[in-house]
Amino acid sequence: MTNKSRNDTIDSILKEDRRFLPSSQFVENTSINNHNLKTLNQLANDDHELFWAKLAHNEIDWQTHFSKTLDDSKAPHYRWFDEGTLNVSVNCIDRHLIDHADKTAILFEGERGDTQTLTYRQLHSAVCRFANALKLHGVKLGDRVVLYMPMVPEAVIAMQACARIGAIHSVVFGGFSAEALKNRIEDAQAKAVITADGGYRGGKIIPLKAACDEALSQGCSSVQTVFVLNRTEENVTMVPGRDIYWHDAIQHISDDCPPQWVNSEHPLFLLYTSGSTGKPKGIQHSSAGYLLGTIVTMKWVFDAQASDVFWCTADVGWITGHSYVAYGPLALGMTILMYEGAPTVPDAGRFWKLCEDHKVTVFYTAPTAIRALMKAGDEFPNQYDLSSLRLLGTVGEPINPEAWMWYHRVIGKERCPIVDTWWQTETGAHVIAPIPGVVATKPGSCTLPLPGMDVAIVDESGKEIEEADKGGYLVIRKPWPSMLRTIWGDDKRYIETYWQRFNNKYYVAGDSARRDKDGYYWIMGRIDDVLNVSGHRLGTMEIESALVAHNLVTEAAVVGRPDEITGEAIFAYVVLKGQRPEGGIDNKLSVELQQWVTKQIGAIARPKEIRYADNLPKTRSGKIMRRLLRSIACGEEITQDTSTLENEAILEQLQGKQ
Ligand code: WTA
Repeated sequence: MTNKSRNDTIDSILKEDRRFLPSSQFVENTSINNHNLKTLNQLANDDHELFWAKLAHNEIDWQTHFSKTLDDSKAPHYRWFDEGTLNVSVNCIDRHLIDHADKTAILFEGERGDTQTLTYRQLHSAVCRFANALKLHGVKLGDRVVLYMPMVPEAVIAMQACARIGAIHSVVFGGFSAEALKNRIEDAQAKAVITADGGYRGGKIIPLKAACDEALSQGCSSVQTVFVLNRTEENVTMVPGRDIYWHDAIQHISDDCPPQWVNSEHPLFLLYTSGSTGKPKGIQHSSAGYLLGTIVTMKWVFDAQASDVFWCTADVGWITGHSYVAYGPLALGMTILMYEGAPTVPDAGRFWKLCEDHKVTVFYTAPTAIRALMKAGDEFPNQYDLSSLRLLGTVGEPINPEAWMWYHRVIGKERCPIVDTWWQTETGAHVIAPIPGVVATKPGSCTLPLPGMDVAIVDESGKEIEEADKGGYLVIRKPWPSMLRTIWGDDKRYIETYWQRFNNKYYVAGDSARRDKDGYYWIMGRIDDVLNVSGHRLGTMEIESALVAHNLVTEAAVVGRPDEITGEAIFAYVVLKGQRPEGGIDNKLSVELQQWVTKQIGAIARPKEIRYADNLPKTRSGKIMRRLLRSIACGEEITQDTSTLENEAILEQLQGKQ
């Protein structure tokens, strides 16, 4: 193939309908077929910049076209699509008004069953009005706005309104404490906070405004205005001159709000995530590059179709709720479902009822939710008609094969491909994930890197590991458009955390991984969760997955404890399907589980000690707090902040005090 004819072929692939590629039946007719996936990968390998330039050109509505694709003169601070100007909210909303103004953008259901529908036209009007309200209260280009909201349409409206005026939002998950909120507001020096009188979750009202008041009473002097959405009618204190109800703020306000054109690199948002130290990192994302990442992955991984009802269960407080609720699907003019509450209210059938009622076609959730719903029993999903589903996704941690198979069999009826998507807050969008119908899946593997993602596994010295099944550091060697730009206000920490390990050459994800003989990636765990037992590297998640595969076990968390002989010894916390044994010890069962793990992985992975608990200590996003478990296993004082724990009372049990 000559260069010219190759380029023409690529152009024709990339130029197909900018919103939706033809598709529908998996296996043969996905958005991307085997042939054009190869072509895309080839272009990305041959000319990384040209590849991304073409996609940026085709997928984004630019106000001013960009002049330079990638500026690496200050690497690892990369700039993408410089001098281009755009507005992200125009790309997510206005561009659909021409042909699809009356299409449903957001389908909402509250925990108590109340519903609401917003078309693209209504969404546009709501966003413009709230954007004008923000402006009226002094919020300007580049100002930071913190959101502390329930999972309601106004959360997306507020994010899009910030984008419309070039304000930088920072969403703080509603489950975080007042203290955590205060730290984030102060770090971002936010000028305004958007919250609600409360939100419904787990049958309770979450007192968001009260937590917000507590945070603001302890500092946060940068905050001038607090917008309060009236969601629950709970009585809240309103501070005169500072607090204003959302509905009052948009009264008599025009719904004409011309977009603020911003540079491609203008920060769209900050999102705080925990690091290895106590202080959270404000991950800073760009406008154009970030938007592009969400758009292409929506198409490639979720096979975005105009007819889809797309449901990503993540809260907007997490990156998944940014990329695959508030931005990506809207940029493609899709219909999204938003659900406010918990998966088990009124019972463990709620998610499946929502799928039936709203005819969800693509469903994206986390393994922790899948495991919990699997534990509840098949009778819940079996009560509902799940035939609208065509594609299932998971994210957040490796999915253990047992949960994968259940998801495949009981939810997908062996009909829906499962996309296991590896990515991070920092990467902005999927990095390693299957293209459904094209890349064959293996339960527990996130499969292959997406086109344009130069992923590798390297050893301690930074040398690529070519051998199959040998674990190492997961790195990304070339910059990509949706990558984080820095840690807000802390360039030094950005470099130290993500780049310094290999002389600023590679982005270091902080995960360890291995590649099997087919080149498939298997995430083994965070680097700090990799154990070294008798000189063997073991991913904690691998051992957990083995334990969970036992028919008596629901969940497990494994940590390392220093050991004189083996370096580290494996300590496992186990949640059983049935009753917790008295005192958290059951020697007979422990022997059985030790033998089980030995059989699953090998003697090297056998837990030295097993303790049984009713629950594991998790953050509200479902991540197991391993550092805390490690301290307990080592018999150390607990010095970590436990305020973000779902269930603080579990600590006594884990410590063997009950
Ligand atoms: C883990 C969530 C295995 C991983 C989007 C990563 C995964 C961290 C997967 C990022 C997956 C995410 N398989 N592990 N499919 N997806 N992880 O920033 O350790 O909340 O580094 O972003 O979750 O978590 P974060």
